Amino acid sequence: MAKAHLILREATHEWHQRVEELSLFKKLMYPEVSVEDLLATLSLLYAFYERVESAIQPYFSQTSTLPYNSKKRALEADLTLLGALTQQVPGVFEVKDVAVAWGARYVLEGASLGRKVIARHLKKRLPAIASSLQFYQLEPDVETSWSHLVSTLEAELQTPAQIDRATTAACDTFELLYNLAKLQRRDIKKRL
Ligand code: HEM
Repeated sequence: MAKAHLILREATHEWHQRVEELSLFKKLMYPEVSVEDLLATLSLLYAFYERVESAIQPYFSQTSTLPYNSKKRALEADLTLLGALTQQVPGVFEVKDVAVAWGARYVLEGASLGRKVIARHLKKRLPAIASSLQFYQLEPDVETSWSHLVSTLEAELQTPAQIDRATTAACDTFELLYNLAKLQRRDIKKRL
């Protein structure tokens, strides 16, 4: 494994574990996963992707080495299909330069690896819903997209300062998702 990727992976390892342990994500892997569980996770991911994507997209336009394909539209379509409203959570995610944008993108794109595991599980447990959701069918060839992402990231993050900024941004991105999940949980409790 090359340098920038190895550093990013090690630096975010604990965050990944923490996120995977959130009940929202754990429930998706239970045999008794429900449409309500799915709805809660998709709402959280919408709030997360909507905020991070709008901050990184200016750095990865169609003319960049590896344009970024937004996942927001798929999430929007799935939430509409499930009869939920897309909610924008106030707050901004600040991206000051391209190294920071790469750190955040690493997290967004790495989530596709986990998405594949979840998609396989949902296909077995909620086959009718799973086959109509767009988000869990994005990038059928995740491995190829991921290896392109990693080699481009390696080429773009050359200096220790760039790698450092990307690493901090990747941790901040995981932290944002974690905090949004906590906010959502508090919101649900208040409504009960
Ligand atoms: C239940 C939820 C999740 C599961 C089961 C899961 C599972 C996985 C798996 C199996 C991998 C591949 C590891 C490897 O090939 O060595 C992976 C990688 C990754 N996941 Fe997750 N994931 C989950 C949620 C997330 C979320 C929500 C995010 C971020 C928003 C995320 C970010 C990443 C990243 C950045 C990597 C790449 C690590 C690397 O550099 O190799 N994951 N995940």
